[in-house]
Amino acid sequence: MWLHFLVPLILLTTWTVTCHVIDETAGKMADYSGYTLHRFQVDTTSNTMEKLESYDMELDQTTQTARLLIDIWAEPSKQNPHADVLVAPEFLQKFKSLLTGAELSTLKMIEGDIQSQINAERRAMIHNSVRRRRKRALRSWHEFDTNAYHSYDEMVEFMRLLSEQKPDMVEMVKVATSSEGRSIYGVKIHPPGISPPEKPSIIVDAGVHAREWIAPAVGLFMIKKIVSEYGKTAEVTANLQKFDWYIMPQVNPDGYEYSRTNDRLWRKTRSKNVTVNRWCVGADANRNWGYRWGEAGANRTPCSNIYMGSHPYSEPEIKGLKEFFTWQITNPMVYISLHSYGQLLLSPWGYTNERTENYQDQQNAAKEAALAIKNTTGVSYSYGTISEMMYPASGTSIDFMQHRGVPYIYGVELRPTDNPNSFAFNLPPSYIRATGDEMMAALNAIGTHAVKIKRL
Ligand SMILES: *[C@@H]1O[C@H](CO)[C@@H](O)[C@H](O)[C@H]1NC(C)=O
Ligand SMILES: *[C@@H]1O[C@H](CO)[C@@H](O)[C@H](O)[C@H]1NC(C)=O
Ligand SMILES: [Zn+2]
Repeated sequence: MWLHFLVPLILLTTWTVTCHVIDETAGKMADYSGYTLHRFQVDTTSNTMEKLESYDMELDQTTQTARLLIDIWAEPSKQNPHADVLVAPEFLQKFKSLLTGAELSTLKMIEGDIQSQINAERRAMIHNSVRRRRKRALRSWHEFDTNAYHSYDEMVEFMRLLSEQKPDMVEMVKVATSSEGRSIYGVKIHPPGISPPEKPSIIVDAGVHAREWIAPAVGLFMIKKIVSEYGKTAEVTANLQKFDWYIMPQVNPDGYEYSRTNDRLWRKTRSKNVTVNRWCVGADANRNWGYRWGEAGANRTPCSNIYMGSHPYSEPEIKGLKEFFTWQITNPMVYISLHSYGQLLLSPWGYTNERTENYQDQQNAAKEAALAIKNTTGVSYSYGTISEMMYPASGTSIDFMQHRGVPYIYGVELRPTDNPNSFAFNLPPSYIRATGDEMMAALNAIGTHAVKIKRL
């Protein structure tokens, strides 16, 4: 928060894309001491969420710094009609005054000091990275530890090794270049063979929102799982024979690295546009797509966490993804965008509460996915359209893909669910495996459904 835009100017000169060691001094990290996480039942007749959102960032013109006042972590949905909201200490009184009487009567604090959660996670990561550094560099993709949160460079190194050591199954693809100049990669996975014919595709992206660390971890988990289990487990084998898989595990590497080194709660990209605003950096990459950009549920304030950007595709990450999806993927059948948290499978539309023409089929596939998840780990995921389950959001990738005619589309909110005492964005790495297993099961179920309905 305080350091959002002061630090990067200094850092960028010395701290380039080659850095992947976590800084152990941690002196420059944004500090959320005194911030508390609250939950309340949302009164459906109120416009409380919109009101709260409008206060999210305070800009101090004299010190030229911005400070986060309020941050919505979990939006209310039909199944869970409550909100999780992070509140700065000085904003607590004002926050309470914005709730209706009914909402206030259900208000409870679910985390007393978010900074201690962040510190605990950081200590564990430093421990881990010291341990990893003592070991030699990765020599084989098998050695890549999917049960840990990795730097962007480590993710790329894994994909590079995999494509070099499994060239008959894995091709590394470059999809975009970020604002800070990082190359954004993904992998295309197909059954063993040199240049097999193009098939319908399953597309997965993750990391759109920087702080949702479980999402890229699950993306990487799935890459490793598909390659290792091809020919061993029936469902993985069948779905790889039917589909080309494109997995882009980290599409917002600037934001991700920033969330590792400067501000654990960073969500946006790291683009700078001094014409628009000199102090506030980045846009919400999932409000920046061009289809119905800037309609319901978009924010025009550059400091906001859900700022839609100065124009459609203003973010080079999103422009690159759009070009890649449009020109490189000929027959997209399934599109999944991984986020956290809340355990939801969200389908289009986001910009309107009208139903898509293939609404029922999308819901049927989501139901199969939720059953497969339940069968795999016993965990419950809910499903529905974005506007049905929550508030409208426009400029999202799933609306773009729906407009493009992709039949099966889900924005996934991974674990945890918004239960009391949840870890929110700080899900310990010990949960990656189960979250990855259940997502793999969900994707296989959606693939199987598509094969049946579309006669692939
Ligand atoms: C910066 O914002 C201005 C004003 O909205 C816009 O015209 C311009 O294209 C933006 N620049 C970039 C690089 O996005
Ligand atoms: C549940 O899981 C078992 C074992 O993993 C599998 O054989 C079965 O087909 C699954 N059932 C469903 C409905 O997914
Ligand atoms: Zn997200």
